[in-house]
Amino acid sequence: MLTAKITGTGSALPAKILTNADLALMVDTSDEWITSRTGIKERRISADGEYTSTFAIEAARRALAMANVLPEDLDLIILGTVTPDFPFPSTACIIQNELGAHKAVAFDVSAACSGFIYGLSIADSFIRSGRSRKALVIGAEVLSRIVDWKDRNTCILFGDGAGAAIIEASGDQDGIRSTHIFSNGACWELLYQPGSGSRNPAANPATDPASFFIRMEGNEVYKHAVRGMEEAAMAALDANGINASDISLFIPHQANRRIIDAIAKRLDLGADKVFINLHRYGNTSSASIPIALDEANRNGRIKPGDLILLDAFGGGFTYGSALIRW
Ligand code: ACO
Repeated sequence: MLTAKITGTGSALPAKILTNADLALMVDTSDEWITSRTGIKERRISADGEYTSTFAIEAARRALAMANVLPEDLDLIILGTVTPDFPFPSTACIIQNELGAHKAVAFDVSAACSGFIYGLSIADSFIRSGRSRKALVIGAEVLSRIVDWKDRNTCILFGDGAGAAIIEASGDQDGIRSTHIFSNGACWELLYQPGSGSRNPAANPATDPASFFIRMEGNEVYKHAVRGMEEAAMAALDANGINASDISLFIPHQANRRIIDAIAKRLDLGADKVFINLHRYGNTSSASIPIALDEANRNGRIKPGDLILLDAFGGGFTYGSALIRW
């Protein structure tokens, strides 16, 4: 039976760092408030001329190099993003062209912060069914361009960056054990970008310029995120007949330290088993899990045979998990 195995990871981040102290000069906030409510200390912000594809391509090249895979051998490219370079064509097609991955079918997935897990789940299905042998899955965002830098409720949370993974067909039992993805469209208005789509088109003079920024009911999102991420994590554990204590490393979506701590407590996972880097990057939406996975991989936090649990939640609502034997 074919299984899907992650053979390379990569990530890329803008050079510019925006600290909590910098933000305190822009809106009425403080390092103390941001740190205690979110755990975030700083985030990366794109420079002029840097786009979602800029970081996605860099992260992809690093993952390809680690996997020792040539771009022309890829047959699938999936990009999770809510900040594509353009409404169309898909940014995945731009990435395909830049990489020279001419044989790959390429498309974007819109699942907000769950975009990488959704992409991983699709790639896993393609590989298990024999439709793909070498896939590239990316999560990449330039959220700084859809954040209202005057709104202290949201601007402190987000950052830019990209992470990528190469997924290859394999005959052995290691690799992606299972993926579990969920949607709850009843709550879409709790977290969304009102403008730029067909309801509030950019070209319509009646469209409120503020509608181009992220809108969020933070308290409500928080409660749903904890519940959804717990449900997704339990789905992975139950499907594989294992307990949380069997997990070597838990890599949750990096949105908020309090959300991560609440889930770790519900799963009874010690701090040593939970990967956290949100203090350095903030919430990079679909990029957060692949950036964390790449850091854990390159820093030796993941060893062959380890059982890794990925867990995400985002706008839509979307949520999901993936269990991987490394
Ligand atoms: N600095 C100082 N004060 C602030 C700031 C700020 N940056 N932002 C809000 N406040 C104020 C509010 O105005 C409010 O003041 P008031 O009581 O005078 O009205 C007070 O702080 C409390 O505001 P709350 O919104 O209740 O603060 P809360 O403790 O809920 O924290 C937060 C807000 C951090 C957004 C939290 O709700 C949260 O993390 N929610 C999850 C949202 C999230 O992570 N979204 C990311 C996308 S979804 C995802 O990735 C899972």
